[in-house]
Amino acid sequence: MKLMLVFILSSLFVGVTVGTYAIRNPNIHDPVPVHEALPLPVVITQDHLNKRKYFIESKWYGTLDPNEEVYAKLHCGNGTKANKSNVKKIFSDFKETFEVIVPSKTQVITCRRGIFDIDSFKTRFKFEHKEE
Ligand SMILES: *[C@@H]1O[C@H](CO)[C@@H](O)[C@H](O)[C@H]1NC(C)=O
Ligand SMILES: *[C@@H]1O[C@H](CO)[C@@H](O)[C@H](O)[C@H]1NC(C)=O
Repeated sequence: MKLMLVFILSSLFVGVTVGTYAIRNPNIHDPVPVHEALPLPVVITQDHLNKRKYFIESKWYGTLDPNEEVYAKLHCGNGTKANKSNVKKIFSDFKETFEVIVPSKTQVITCRRGIFDIDSFKTRFKFEHKEE
């Protein structure tokens, strides 16, 4: 019982201390609105009929205005051809799917992707090509 009281008193004390600290410390302010675009992990699927064809779903999220115009871009090396490289989107689309054809002898494909506006991101990824 005595221990419980000590606990309650000390949590009260901690609460008061933290509250006072927040008020007095001039470095703690309300958060400022942020505009940031961030990548989500890319999702890649292989076509069932044409094993050299892949669907690359580039995804993003963040704190931009939902209607803000952005450009979804993709570029793959190693002789890989994409059906488009630069697509105008709005931020709240949150994804764009690209179709790529990889050369049959290629084993590892290296790509970079991003969404671009003033607050942009660009990331690199690679995937393995298997025809079996
Ligand atoms: C694929 O391209 C990347 C970047 O150009 C290169 O570093 C890598 O060696 C290439 N891989 C293959 C298997 O050709
Ligand atoms: C590119 O491929 C995607 C995914 O299959 C498809 O939705 C889109 O219409 C294609 N775009 C062009 C320009 O061919």
